[in-house]
Amino acid sequence: MTPAQVTLVEQSFARVAPIADQTAVMFYDRLFEVAPQVKAMFPADMTEQRRKLMATLAVVVNGLSNLESILPAASALAVRHVAYGAKAEHYPVVGSALLWTLEQGLAEGWTPQVADAWRTAYGTLSGFMIEQAYGRPQAVK
Ligand code: HEM
Repeated sequence: MTPAQVTLVEQSFARVAPIADQTAVMFYDRLFEVAPQVKAMFPADMTEQRRKLMATLAVVVNGLSNLESILPAASALAVRHVAYGAKAEHYPVVGSALLWTLEQGLAEGWTPQVADAWRTAYGTLSGFMIEQAYGRPQAVK
């Protein structure tokens, strides 16, 4: 990611942070609409899950300018997701639900540059997580 893209992600995330819970509700509604098969993997009460997702996204966004600082946590998160039943092919679905949600939340703030910056950020994060969780030939499972 370029420094300009990092700034775009930071600034646009700051605009949805005040409506974090609403954003998370919209994200999971969208995810379960486009990928109904993943709904059963999640708890019935999504209150905590919504909070954790937005808190983690905040940590990731804050770490984009210093990627090495968040890689250990991202790796651990990826490995925990194997136990949740997440598969590599779920990551693009989650990513498109996230980008769709941001587009709704940001409205006219969702410019092609902002969209590109988020696509790059999510691609970088999910690529790293997939590699950490599924990419190692010696992975213990
Ligand atoms: C970059 C992408 C993702 C991020 C940032 C993320 C973030 C999180 C966070 C913070 C939690 C709370 C529990 C924990 O910290 O371990 C969580 C739980 C969960 N995630 Fe993800 N996640 C991502 C991708 C996915 C994908 C692709 C799936 C596949 C469907 C998935 C399915 C789940 C499930 C099922 C749980 C709930 C586990 C439970 O409480 O039983 N996540 N996720």
